[in-house]
Amino acid sequence: MIQLTNVSKTFNANTINEKKALVDLNLTIETGDFITVIGGNGAGKSTLLNLIAGVFPCDGGQILLDDIDLTKQPEYRRAKLLGRVFQDPMMGTAADMGIEENLAMAYRRGKKRGLGWGIKKGERAIYKEKLETLELGLETRLSSKVGLLSGGQRQALTLLMATLQKPKLLLLDEHTAALDPKTARKVLELTDEMVSRDSLTTLMVTHNMKDAIRLGNRLIMMHEGRIIFDIKGQEKKSLQVKDLLEKFETVSGDTMDNDRMLLS
Ligand SMILES: Nc1ncnc2c1ncn2[C@@H]1O[C@H](COP(=O)(O)OP(=O)(O)O)[C@@H](O)[C@H]1O
Ligand SMILES: [Mg+2]
Repeated sequence: MIQLTNVSKTFNANTINEKKALVDLNLTIETGDFITVIGGNGAGKSTLLNLIAGVFPCDGGQILLDDIDLTKQPEYRRAKLLGRVFQDPMMGTAADMGIEENLAMAYRRGKKRGLGWGIKKGERAIYKEKLETLELGLETRLSSKVGLLSGGQRQALTLLMATLQKPKLLLLDEHTAALDPKTARKVLELTDEMVSRDSLTTLMVTHNMKDAIRLGNRLIMMHEGRIIFDIKGQEKKSLQVKDLLEKFETVSGDTMDNDRMLLS
């Protein structure tokens, strides 16, 4: 279980550019929750994920993972517990290294042993098997440099790496937004398969409302650094895009920036 209590973050405090990105946010993520996160531009979605990952510290509040207090832990220590995939397919993998080498790095995450020991036969078999599940033919290209892959292939590989050692929490920040629609759909289906298969506790930011409704067991909507709507189970399943838009307008007194939100 992950528990955020009164977490807040202000950027450029006491300057003309002051921005309250998160305001006394409370969120309890149950083990096995697959939560989709929606909200307009600047709502604080990425800040929420970054605070959990420790990219920057909270100004106040506490983040607990089971009984571990993450609040003051540096990013590299949290990285052993978390899986992350960002929007940019260029992040998360090392372009100059092979597919297999990238997987080996992920496989050894949090372990003492470095790459120096070489990749053993058994390990290679695991990587092949995992790559096969992507159905992208990457299992036959183990030594290909990752820089040669397409954005979609690379994002699928990042996803595989993020989940190779089952993370306590998987953080996905609009990880299909930079891909063409068909590839985005494929990577999203892979995401759903992986999350379901391993019952991964997941927080997934998306700007596609239909995906937010269709995937996961719980949906949260953010606005101006706050969670303004939190819905799960059957209630979530029966949601429609128009319900979300209405909800947003009622609670925020604002209209959703439809330009960026994909409504269909
Ligand atoms: N590193 C940063 N420095 C200054 N301001 C930031 C930084 N990161 C985010 N912000 C600001 O905080 C607010 C929330 O941003 P963000 O969490 O990225 O929103 P979202 O992901 O929902 O679009 C925005 O106003 C953004 O400009
Ligand atoms: Mg963002």
